[in-house]
Formats: sequence, C-alpha cells, structure tokens
Amino acid sequence: MMGETIMTSWFIRLFVCILGWKACHGLGYYDYFVPEGTIKAGLVAEGDTFTLNEKDLTIFSGTLHYFRVHPDHWRDTLKKFRAAGLNAVETYVPWNLHEPRQGVFDFGDLDEEMSAFLDLRSFLQTAQEEDLFVLLRPGPYICAEWDFGGMPSWLLRDENMRVRINYEGFMNPVRDYFNNLLPRVADLQFTRGGPIIAVQIENEYSGFGDAREPEGKAYMEFLKETLTANGLNESLYFTSDGILWNGDKGAVEGALMTANFNSNPGENLDKLKSLQPDRPLMTTEYWTGWFDHWLADSHSVTDPKDFGATLEVILQRNSSVNMYMFIGGTSFAFMPGANVGGSWPFYTPDTTSYDYDAPLSEAGDYTEKYTVAKDIIAKYNPLEGVVDHPEKPPQREKTAYDKVAITEHLDFPTLLAQQTSVEVSEGPCSMEQLPVNDNNGQSYGYILYTTRANLTPTSKLLITNHVRDLAQVLVDGVVMTKPYGTPDDISGFGFWNGKDQELDIPGSDEVAEVTILVENLARVNYGGPGDFNEKKGIWEGSVFIDGIEIDEWVIHSMEMKGKQVANYTGWQPFEGPLETPAMYRGVFEITEAPKDTFLDMSGWNKGVVFINGFNVGKYWKEGPPRTLYVPGPLLRTGLNEIITFEQYTPSSELIFSSVPILG
Ligand SMILES: *[C@@H]1O[C@H](CO)[C@@H](O)[C@H](O)[C@H]1NC(C)=O
Ligand SMILES: *[C@@H]1O[C@H](CO)[C@@H](O)[C@H](O)[C@H]1NC(C)=O
Repeated sequence: MMGETIMTSWFIRLFVCILGWKACHGLGYYDYFVPEGTIKAGLVAEGDTFTLNEKDLTIFSGTLHYFRVHPDHWRDTLKKFRAAGLNAVETYVPWNLHEPRQGVFDFGDLDEEMSAFLDLRSFLQTAQEEDLFVLLRPGPYICAEWDFGGMPSWLLRDENMRVRINYEGFMNPVRDYFNNLLPRVADLQFTRGGPIIAVQIENEYSGFGDAREPEGKAYMEFLKETLTANGLNESLYFTSDGILWNGDKGAVEGALMTANFNSNPGENLDKLKSLQPDRPLMTTEYWTGWFDHWLADSHSVTDPKDFGATLEVILQRNSSVNMYMFIGGTSFAFMPGANVGGSWPFYTPDTTSYDYDAPLSEAGDYTEKYTVAKDIIAKYNPLEGVVDHPEKPPQREKTAYDKVAITEHLDFPTLLAQQTSVEVSEGPCSMEQLPVNDNNGQSYGYILYTTRANLTPTSKLLITNHVRDLAQVLVDGVVMTKPYGTPDDISGFGFWNGKDQELDIPGSDEVAEVTILVENLARVNYGGPGDFNEKKGIWEGSVFIDGIEIDEWVIHSMEMKGKQVANYTGWQPFEGPLETPAMYRGVFEITEAPKDTFLDMSGWNKGVVFINGFNVGKYWKEGPPRTLYVPGPLLRTGLNEIITFEQYTPSSELIFSSVPILG
C-alpha cells in the first residue's frame, strides 16, 4: 500500500513536470511552491498569511463542481481558471451520486445516469496538471442547490432519520461512505505530491445546528476523527459559515474558521478576525451571483462592477478567496435542489441551469465578470510577475442545429407498462419506501398511484395533508387537472402548498380507474432539521374518494433513468399532441464534430428531455430559463435521438439555439 502510494505520487509529479505545465508555460505555481520537488510542509494557517511548503500563499480559488460540468470539458474549464490567475479550484463531493444504493459506490465505474461525471481522482489530477491546488469539501452535507444537499435519498427509509447530527443511523452510513471515499483521495494531498491543500468539515453547519452544543459538537468531532483516521489531517481543516450572522456556531477545534458572504466584506472579515485574531483570513464562499428557482420573475444577475468592488475589498484586507461559483454549470438529470421559505411560493425547486451569473457562463463562456476578476487578481497577487499565466483558451463554438420534427410518441399506458410496479394494501407510500433498487427505494423522477373506485357524477378525490410535490390526476385515462396557471394555484389541488385539497372526479356510476401521477420536483438542500424530512410522493396523509379511505393501490416507480428511456418500446407515429402525459421522439443527424448547443423549450409546457440516453434536465414554460444546455460531448457525429417526457402539451418540433435564454 505504502509503496503504491509513493509510486503514484512520483508518477503524478513526473507527469506534471514533464508533460504538463512546465513544458508549455513558464514558471507555474507548483514550480514556485515545490522547488525541485521537495515538500516539507502542507498548508499552514498561522499569523496573517497562509504558508504552503513554508512560502507565503494567498489563495485565489474558484468553484467548479465536477458533477455539473461535462468531464470532456473539465480541462478546458480548468485552463480558463488558471488563465484568470487563479491558483486553486474548490469542489464539493456529492454523496448521493457516489453511493446511489447503500454500500454500492460509484466513482465512474457504474452504469448510472451520472457515472461519467464521477471520476473524482481524474478531476483532481487534471486540476494539478493545470497548475491548480484543490480545496476539497467532502460533506457529507454539501447544500449546493443539489438534491437533499447531496445526501442519498435512501437515508429517508429510516422513519427516525435525523441528518447532520450525532444520530447513529446517520453517522454509520457517513462513516462507511467516508471510509470508501477518503482512501481514494488521501494520496492526492499536497503533502504526498498531489493537489489537495485543504479539506472542509461539514458545510455551513451554523445554518443548521450548533457545533458548540453537545449533539452538534459530537457530530462535528466524529467527522473530524473520520477524516483524520483516513489521513486527511495532512491537509488544513476548515469550516465555512455565515460568520456575520452565526459567529463561531459552526466552528470545530483544530479547523480554520472561514467566511461566506456576497456583501459587506469589511464587516464580515472584521468579525472573522475578531473571532480568530491569530490566523489568516479566508473567504470560502464569495458568492459571485445567485441561483434561480422555477416561477421566479427573472434570471438572477448582479452588476459586474459591484462584484469587482467586493472582490477588491476582500483582497485589500489580505483575505484569501474562493469565488463560489466561478462556473456554475448545470444540474443535469433530476439533481437540482430546492429551498423552503416563509413567502410565496413557499417551496422553491431550483432550475436545471446553475449558471449562477458566474465569471464563466453555464456553458463555459467568458463573461464580463471573468475579465473583472482576472484584472483584480493580477493587481493583488503577490506572485504577479513571478509566476506566469497562460493565454485564455478560445471560446468553445456554439451552434443551433436545424429544428427536429417529432416523429413518434409513446402513449401513457404503453409507458406505464414498462415501469416497475408494486401493489400495496395499506395506503399510498413515499417513493423512498418502495421495495425497488435492492430495497433502497426510488430516488428521483415520478411515482404513480392507481386504484379503482365506483364514481358518481359528484365524486370527489381528497388528498389529506400535502402531495410532494406536484400531482396530476387521470380518470380512465382522461386528465382531470390543469397545468400551473396563476400564483394561487400552488395552494390548490395537486400543488405542494395545497393542504387537504379536493378535486371533482365525476363518473357515471361505474367502476373507474383513478390515477395520480406525482412528480418529485427536488428535495430541499438548505434549512433547519425540520426541512430535511423530504420524502416524495403521497405519504403525509391518506387519500379518500367520496369519504372512503383508499388503502389498495398499484404503485408505479417511474424513475426515468436515461438508459431505461432509450430502451422503451411501443413507439407510434406522431399525429399531433396527446392529451395525457406522454413521451415524444425525434432524431437528427450531425455531419461534423458535435458542438455545444441549447434546446429552446419555449414551445413545450413541462417535462424532461433525454438526449442519446442521458437526462439533460427538466424544463418548465414558467421559467425563468427557456433553454436547456446541451454540451457537445453528449452528441455524436451521425444520428442523435431526443426524447421528451411532456406532462401537458407538447410542440411538434424541437428547436435549437446557439445562445442560452435564461429569462
Ligand atoms: C496586507 O498585507 C500587506 C503585506 O504584508 C501589509 O502591508 C498590509 O498592511 C496588509 N493589509 C491589511 C489590511 O492587513
Ligand atoms: C433494455 O432492454 C433489454 C431487453 O428488454 C433489457 O434486457 C435491458 O436490461 C434493458 N436495459 C435497461 C437499461 O433498461
């Protein structure tokens, strides 16, 4: 094991020196900080400045989530980071993708929807080859506008689950996961010849609990001990919190406190200095922009001048900085998270695009903020003129392919016939409780509940409590509900804020089939303990038809994994829109090397798009975004297949755009 580790680190070092940075450029950060390959010390945070290998270091970092940028674009994106003068990249690690079923780990080797994005070692090695250090944030909770804050949904099968606290039922799975994850990255620490210089413990814990109280403290200490047991203590431990609001509520002994904010840098850094006078300042999340949620008025943007002014104050104060995000990227598949709040619409699922109005756009294009950041870093970088910076890589070309005609549909009954189903006799249950995926439950997508009942002309369907999150009802295959129309709708039948809501389901004194299709819109990723009980489907209450509680249901698990969708059979020629949820298919040919593009879904209502067996994300005509980003590497020279699952009304064609429309 030892021999292997040394061999690996020597190999990486050799690779970096011979083939990587030095050959193509002048003096790099690694050349400066690791002269002649000699490593005496890792990152140290004492006094006013960080030191790395005993030399002063100001960290200029940007966030890139490797799970939000196509792996074929990692290197190009990291080159753009380095060309801006950055010396580090920061990433979270999403537990829910890396352990899709309990005890089954995916670091790029499984055949899951997102597997191709999960070779974390390759990402970290690429960062080093591009002359960047790494700040690693392994969670287990990562927030990140990512489903359930990155935690796997199978945790919710425990009815007593308490996340992010010293509950054995949570800590045991965390330990198993960390003991699998951490040995994969330990040898990629700076001290062993790799890029990782710092490791975060938990994430904004002060926004959830209190690390000074016994339960929170025990949990945070447990995380620290598990990291240390895996040798990660060769890197600098840190925590990051909204220091101005929560002070040292999220701090752990032995870990550097750092601050998160997007305004009042002076006040934030004063507060941090007062809490920790003898250590250097670090801003772990300087928010460069913000994320979007469905039903918002418009895409969130901030003024590049304000962005620059705040960055300048941070650097004037000699604080190191990580820009969250430097590239937002995309929450593909069913991976966006959600927030909860006290005002309309109370629950706010995030959009597919995670553009974030960051210095690099969702599709990796330079924005005004990129130039602003580059110029300011050059002004404050103590190593400006000492290390060299590469030229900016050229922009990746974008294109609008010709429109694609829908040629086939897959009707609802044919779709259902290809889904896993179970019969229950004690009322509906959540998707997490379904005995599917080797008893790990269903994580994402849709769940469908069917029963049979005698319906009269005045029949009513009552769902007590809430549906999680959005329900459509069909009676004998006829849709009885309407798409979202006005803001009041979200408190009506079928929407997340509607409690104990009733729907008229008139029949003709005969037995009818009553079907409720429920969409999981996204699990909450940020909030207090009460916000994380995020099971999906119908489980909060019972369902009644004409006052009679219905216990017997057939439940279909509609996970819609891209590879399953590409495998569906029973397609029929398209002869116009169907009036039920359905799938639609079109093919198109690319004759040259594929390029990045965007699908403009303005003509459709609500659903999901699959391209060549990959889920490129949800669309919803309520916006704000109207387009879905399609990275070139998802396409191929030759025939390409697009399948949509449209819940309401389809268009008869799919339209490409060479520019995003973010609303
Ligand atoms: C920042 O560091 C420089 C160089 O060490 C020092 O001269 C300056 O006073 C520091 N500024 C602040 C605000 O601490
Ligand atoms: C695709 O269909 C074939 C034949 O029915 C089946 O054996 C295979 O498991 C399916 N693959 C997926 C990913 O569902």
